[in-house]
Amino acid sequence: MRKLFISLFMLALTLDVCAQQTLIIDASRKGAPIGDLYGIFFEEINHAGDGGIYAELVRNRSFEDDVAWGPNSPRHGGRVRPDGRRVTGPRNAITGWHTVDAEMMLDSANLLNNAQTRSLKLIISKADGGIRNEGFWGINVTAGKKYHFSAWVKTDKKYTPKMTVSLRNSDNADVILGSAQTQVKTKGKWTKVEADITAAKSDTQANLYLTFDQPGTVLMDVVSLFPPTFKDRPNGCRPDLAQLLADLHPRFMRFPGGCYVEGQTAGNGKQNRFVWSNTVGPIEQRPGHLNVNWRYNVSDGLGYHEMLQLSEDLGAEPLFVVNVGLGHGWMVPLDSLQPYIQEALDAIEYANGDAKKTKWGKERARNGHPAPFGLRLLEVGNENANFHFDDNSDQSHKYFERYKMFYDAIKKKYPDVQIIGNVESWGTDEPSWRSQLPVDLLDEHYYRSPSWFAARYHKYDSYDRKGPKIYVGEYAVTSDFGTNGHLTAGLGEAIYMLGMERNADIVAHASYAPIFVHEEDQAWRPDMIRFNAAKSFGTPSYWVQNLMANNVGTQNIAFDINNNLLPARIGHQMGVSSWGTLVSYSDFRVTDLDSGKPVVLSSDWKAQPGQRGSLGDWTLSGGTVTQNDQRSEGSVFLNSTHFGNNYAIDLTFTRKEGAEGAIIVFGYEDADNYLWWNLGGWGNGQHAIEHISSGSKSTIKAVRGSLETGRPYKAHIEVRGTHVTCSLDGAQMFDFTLPEPQHIYTAAAMNGNDEMIIKLVNPTAEAAALNIDIRGFKPTTARLIRLTSGNGKDENTMERPMNVSPTETSLRVGTPFLFAAQPYSLNIIRLK
Ligand code: AHR
Repeated sequence: MRKLFISLFMLALTLDVCAQQTLIIDASRKGAPIGDLYGIFFEEINHAGDGGIYAELVRNRSFEDDVAWGPNSPRHGGRVRPDGRRVTGPRNAITGWHTVDAEMMLDSANLLNNAQTRSLKLIISKADGGIRNEGFWGINVTAGKKYHFSAWVKTDKKYTPKMTVSLRNSDNADVILGSAQTQVKTKGKWTKVEADITAAKSDTQANLYLTFDQPGTVLMDVVSLFPPTFKDRPNGCRPDLAQLLADLHPRFMRFPGGCYVEGQTAGNGKQNRFVWSNTVGPIEQRPGHLNVNWRYNVSDGLGYHEMLQLSEDLGAEPLFVVNVGLGHGWMVPLDSLQPYIQEALDAIEYANGDAKKTKWGKERARNGHPAPFGLRLLEVGNENANFHFDDNSDQSHKYFERYKMFYDAIKKKYPDVQIIGNVESWGTDEPSWRSQLPVDLLDEHYYRSPSWFAARYHKYDSYDRKGPKIYVGEYAVTSDFGTNGHLTAGLGEAIYMLGMERNADIVAHASYAPIFVHEEDQAWRPDMIRFNAAKSFGTPSYWVQNLMANNVGTQNIAFDINNNLLPARIGHQMGVSSWGTLVSYSDFRVTDLDSGKPVVLSSDWKAQPGQRGSLGDWTLSGGTVTQNDQRSEGSVFLNSTHFGNNYAIDLTFTRKEGAEGAIIVFGYEDADNYLWWNLGGWGNGQHAIEHISSGSKSTIKAVRGSLETGRPYKAHIEVRGTHVTCSLDGAQMFDFTLPEPQHIYTAAAMNGNDEMIIKLVNPTAEAAALNIDIRGFKPTTARLIRLTSGNGKDENTMERPMNVSPTETSLRVGTPFLFAAQPYSLNIIRLK
């Protein structure tokens, strides 16, 4: 053991480490018990459902998609493919469908039923004419797999053609991957036809063809094709995507939104929201609706029943969010709210009611699930108590009166249902329940930067334990995340999760958001699972969720860590920047404060391409540096002179035109580490010092203020070590010392009595050597599960889906033992 300790110690010395840290973990000092902390939040956004986890392969199967909202419509300005190409479709295209020697049109005279407002009329001009469906950006076909086809068809009594259902290559229709034939004999009535196709070949971009052996006219509706599904559920889920969720072992699943619950008006006189009762029963009975919030049509094939079923299949408790008569751009008056309350009560009855004695329980049984789903968590509204719009356009002041009506009605009939209330989701870091009304849990939402999350490791330490429990229903890094989410973003979230975990007595539940994005229709970025028709992968944030949830433990235990602060670093260069503004800088002078001598600023300026936004158009003339491109945001024009530790910068700047003001860059170490004084930022409403650290930006100090156009201002910055003062026209605006960053973030828990789980996050570029001293528990074996990569900016892609992914090794441990936490790493040590 001594030998092992020495060799680990030598290893640590070879790493670029600062002072060795000691982590003392005491199993006898018990902290908060940990319950069903980690779950998931599923929202129909980014084609998460239709074209995503809902396994249906036919796009616009009921022909109900609003032409004006199709993905290729001019209203959308076409869509931009990942390769940057913009694609637009013909104005009257029927989303997803194309003809083959035929003519097609929407028909509203011959309807399948009341749920449908259109069918497709197909006039076949030649033998073997028909239609094809392109799927959701291609249909993935795998050799050997069986695909179930169904459609509702109506023809004239005398027209009895043979219909061939085939899967073909999208570029070459002669390549047939699999096919089946069926005789169409409808006797003039809507008839369901079905066929199974076993694919002989694979293709990730197939199309579905329906062709007829004789010319004639066919009416069609609800044309569906299903691959094998997760757990073989009829009308079920795409296995790879469902499995990625199952691998998270979520304890609960919040659904169906998000803004999706609220709906949004779109000049069609509708609320365009999810109404659960329209989403159950046979698929042909579901009207579908326009998902205006996320800008596509939905079939509602993945309906309330399927989401309850998915929760059950994942082993997750369902958490349903109901609408309170408020949405984006619409509101129902209070005296018309009763149907919405009834809708919520009916949803609970559908999920939990007796299969023989209740109306909705019977309906659930008819839909294949006689046993109750056990819905116990219900959220009243989504983000309906924001109070951050000056004009209150989101009607936040209307929330609590509604909440009370829902609360009273639900608790009266279902006292065991836990009610979740809304608090501010935007505009504040400290949301609060602005009411005296009873509530079981509060739903907090945070979309912020990695450093924001890291800085809130202690956020929940001081929450009032007598108040309601917290459900962090939506959180994710949404700024400074790279392209689709890098490791540093995931580590920021991991640190926040450690804070929630340590405070699991007050934070009851948490779920990352959003989960899914189809890479062809990205309304929100980043998301933790990216997919296309055939493939999928998890971002580093996905792996953080996976590792945290799979290694959670049952009871927090106390720990102490010393030497855990890194020295604050401040660089020795300066530069200037701009944000959507034309601005010029002149009269530069840098003085070395130790010698009192001026550091001569030559005209040796150089631009730093590739920094935030485009480089813009910087010019240097007669000692004046000017940004001439108003679109440029945040590109840094850098002076290459390096200064000592203590220096003063003086310059004059003039805002010429544009949205914001001037930005002076100082303490510049490299493109990922510097400070800037942002004058007239946030639409010329605020001055702030922002710190860019390891590529992630956070605000150190801010004051309200604006700049005048055309007026020269004199700026003065003094840097003494890590102490900084900034003055504008002689008046001091900021005085601060750069905070020392925490090196390691920790949580420790017992998993039952015989296992200890230690979690360590090192978000920095410096390794940490930790001497881990365990008390009150004697481990004999240990596993290390680690998520790391060479650079915090590393990401996963379709081509390299596991570039940043966890590894597992065994560790030999004693008490104490030395552990090296690599730069940019989440480490989970499981000791038995
Ligand atoms: O998760 C994406 C969106 O963010 C959700 O729909 C909404 O609740 C929040 O504004």
